[in-house]
Amino acid sequence: MQQRAAPHRNVTDSTGRSLLQKVAGSAIGLDLEMPIATGEKRRRIYLDSTASTLRLGVVQDVLDRYQPYYANTHSTVHFSARLSTEEYRWAHDMVLDFVNADQSRYTAFFVGSGATGGMNRVAATLAGRLPGRDVVITSIMEHHSNDLPHRKHFKTVVHAPPESGSTSMGCVDVKAIERALEAHKGRVAYVSVTGVSNVTGIINPIHEIAALAHAHGALMVVDAAQMIAHVPIRMSGNVDPGEDIDVVVFSGHKIYAPGSPGVVVARRELFEGLEPIEVGGGMVDDVWLDRYTPTAALPDREEAGTPNISGAIGLGAALYALHKIGMDVVEEDEAALMRLALQRLCALPGIALYGDCDMERYPRAGAISFNVRGMHHALTAAILNDYYNIAVRNQCFCAHPYVREMVSEALAEADDALSAAELEALAEMQRGMVRASFGVYSTQADVEMLAKALGDIAGNRERYEALYTQLPNGDFQHKSFRFEPRQFFNVRNAVDGWLERS
Ligand SMILES: Cc1ncc(COP(=O)(O)O)c(C=O)c1O
Repeated sequence: MQQRAAPHRNVTDSTGRSLLQKVAGSAIGLDLEMPIATGEKRRRIYLDSTASTLRLGVVQDVLDRYQPYYANTHSTVHFSARLSTEEYRWAHDMVLDFVNADQSRYTAFFVGSGATGGMNRVAATLAGRLPGRDVVITSIMEHHSNDLPHRKHFKTVVHAPPESGSTSMGCVDVKAIERALEAHKGRVAYVSVTGVSNVTGIINPIHEIAALAHAHGALMVVDAAQMIAHVPIRMSGNVDPGEDIDVVVFSGHKIYAPGSPGVVVARRELFEGLEPIEVGGGMVDDVWLDRYTPTAALPDREEAGTPNISGAIGLGAALYALHKIGMDVVEEDEAALMRLALQRLCALPGIALYGDCDMERYPRAGAISFNVRGMHHALTAAILNDYYNIAVRNQCFCAHPYVREMVSEALAEADDALSAAELEALAEMQRGMVRASFGVYSTQADVEMLAKALGDIAGNRERYEALYTQLPNGDFQHKSFRFEPRQFFNVRNAVDGWLERS
């Protein structure tokens, strides 16, 4: 691939801060108002960025400007195809630059279906690349996407536990990873951990783990689905090269871009020379009826089929905007918000917060999870939505083992009088949490409103409980208030309206 000069950030922190304000304020949907159960209308407070971030206005503007030129890539003959091809390629360079990956040693490619698609590709490829190594070490903190692909392609997957902090669980236990590396000496293909937990927001010491993995001849893979939008990533160029990261996986919808292009950034040699997992157009040099020759060129050989061109260009735009702001500025700004959130929620009686709250010992980014004691997580989420228009997520966030451990731990602390079996039964009933998560557009006022709402819910539990019925799927429905999504938007009406207006 032709390499363009990487864009370098040369702004001061105060410029970065004013750019951050501008870019954050451009997010689409911040001023959305909806009717709530009290009969008033309220602005939505979006605290579900860990699931998907809102799209930034700057990204939408770039896509609107690009759209008239849109054409398929894989050709450079007509003007629009050339333009699309060049910008699509630039998006790859932008990804490499954003995660500080040396362009001469690393490649970036897009895959379908988010970080999940990326991690499946990585597991399948590395299983073929390292046939004698049949063990993967991960942790119990992981999203299923950073667990099941390894289980599918490797004989043994070891789940390292988190450290026991002073109040609750902390980051992944690095010593447990070291013990597992020793126990499976010579057999570990790679260690794969999340950079930032999608449940507690706890940040893992990925460089320390990388150094250990490398010392044992294993690779280091980072699930950066959550890390990417909140914390700077340095894949290469670390003072100790042993701390460099071999593979990073993330997706566009978690970092203010449209859709869900999955992204893999990897050391080139890991993907060179092997039969690509996906085959089809765009990744071959020549095809005969009895054989074909995959191109040697990366990233093309990993990108069979027409890629998500607009998704990749939108992602490139988001990364470039954040790069100009400076991810160190984003990180600092969000850490202040996270400290405020922990402080406010810790001070509330009747709230169980998960994960060790000492941010000096266990830094966090992006998300916190909690329960109102004695209340089903689905009911808390419903009340936050119906009475405050605060959009949060509940359940297990595709991290069942981690959530299960933490709920059981919290219940055990809360009630020493229960037997193990009774605790297990209670934990089963309450299996799940409520998660509030943040993006660059989240404000202190959002956090204050969340704390106020939770104080109200915890203080008026029985009154709220009487207003709801539980549905067979476990969700709670208000007895009289209804929200009809289709009144606000539906595709058919939108098309009909456009046809009438045009
Ligand atoms: C830590 C983590 N890893 C992986 C994923 C899967 O990402 P995607 O939905 O883009 O496949 C998520 C999604 O929430 C996540 O939080």
